[in-house]
Amino acid sequence: MKGMRVFLGVTGGIAAYKAAALTSTLVQRGAVVDVVMTAEAERFVAPLTFASLTGRPVYTSLWDAPERIPHIRLVREANVALVAPATANCIAKLALGVADDLLTTAILAARIPIAIAPAMNAAMYEQTSNLEHLAALRDRGYAIVEPEEGYLAEGERGVGRLASEERLLQTLERLVTPQTLSGVSVLVTGGPTREAFDPVRFVSNASTGATGIAIAREAARRGADVTLVLGPTLLAPPEGVRTVRVTTAREMREAVLGQSPDTEIVVASAAVADWRPSEFSEKKGKKGPPSLDVTFVSNPDVLAELAERKGKTMLVGFAAETHEHEENAREKLRRKHLDAIAVNDVRGERGFGTGENALVLLWGNDGRKDLGSADKATLAARLWDAIEELRRCS
Ligand SMILES: Cc1cc2nc3c(=O)[nH]c(=O)nc-3n(C[C@H](O)[C@H](O)[C@H](O)COP(=O)(O)O)c2cc1C
Repeated sequence: MKGMRVFLGVTGGIAAYKAAALTSTLVQRGAVVDVVMTAEAERFVAPLTFASLTGRPVYTSLWDAPERIPHIRLVREANVALVAPATANCIAKLALGVADDLLTTAILAARIPIAIAPAMNAAMYEQTSNLEHLAALRDRGYAIVEPEEGYLAEGERGVGRLASEERLLQTLERLVTPQTLSGVSVLVTGGPTREAFDPVRFVSNASTGATGIAIAREAARRGADVTLVLGPTLLAPPEGVRTVRVTTAREMREAVLGQSPDTEIVVASAAVADWRPSEFSEKKGKKGPPSLDVTFVSNPDVLAELAERKGKTMLVGFAAETHEHEENAREKLRRKHLDAIAVNDVRGERGFGTGENALVLLWGNDGRKDLGSADKATLAARLWDAIEELRRCS
């Protein structure tokens, strides 16, 4: 979010306090945030809170410095606007074109992408008038970040809670990201698989799923229609992505092969176990014998099977190697008829679980692009840049 200029409108709802936490996260991630509050919002949170978090003035009136025409300047300087929380009152005013304070006037004067995050009592939210106003704004191109269901301040339950911070941040990122994969269907696999030999013991590997999650998130940000088949991990899958959870290699195979044959791009980054224990004991084995023999049998080769039936799908594999990385990966690229393969060095388990990674993308007989070494979100963006380039050239 470095360099992102955000216009954040805060209106008079109980969730106004959450806008302060959101502001802090945005600033920590490198965004410059200008906060505009309605008079009613000031009853819930003091402007000083936002001023302290952003290190910038907070705007509350059209008339503070009229010679600088704040409602125009603020939305010209920003690349994206978000109203969070948006009251029923503010949503109605925006839908009807009422501009009677700085926030509504600035939003109506904006030419940048605008997101609206409603938050209110469930009965207010479900009012036909409110739903019609939201539909009208959606039709005009506003991104509506739907509220969530759950506990509401009045002690009631229902739909009306402000969308999670993760969803708000993702919406902002999507709105400033060119939609280069708009409408493209993408399948990403991620994480390890687990192969059990009794009810509590299994064989697995050090993959955390972070790479697959980052790749799926970046594709969704670029507008793709993304399915993520994800092995066991404690990491949360990204918002806005259809996630299918699996445990074993055989489940991974079923989930992947069960996807639509019309999938346009598959990025197979999961670290699927090559073997599984040949026997499974329903009873937990007792401690006692000084050694334990476990025999393994081969697991299905999900990538190879995908390649066999890939048709027009572009198939990008991953190779985690500890030695002769590129030679081994090129051999895998050829043997499995992949369109491209991303190689990472996992000597000493580098690449697995750590925030940083290094990737090289290989394709064809001698195509090669070093994606460098960076955090997984940055590498995912570079990987998609390279995949899109390959698609354009093919
Ligand atoms: C304690 C309290 C909590 C409120 N919470 C909400 C809310 O969560 N959502 C909402 O739409 N309105 C809420 N309201 C009503 C708005 O504050 C009211 O409609 C106000 O006119 C909104 O002004 P604004 O849209 O200019 O900020 C609340 C009012 C009070 C007194």
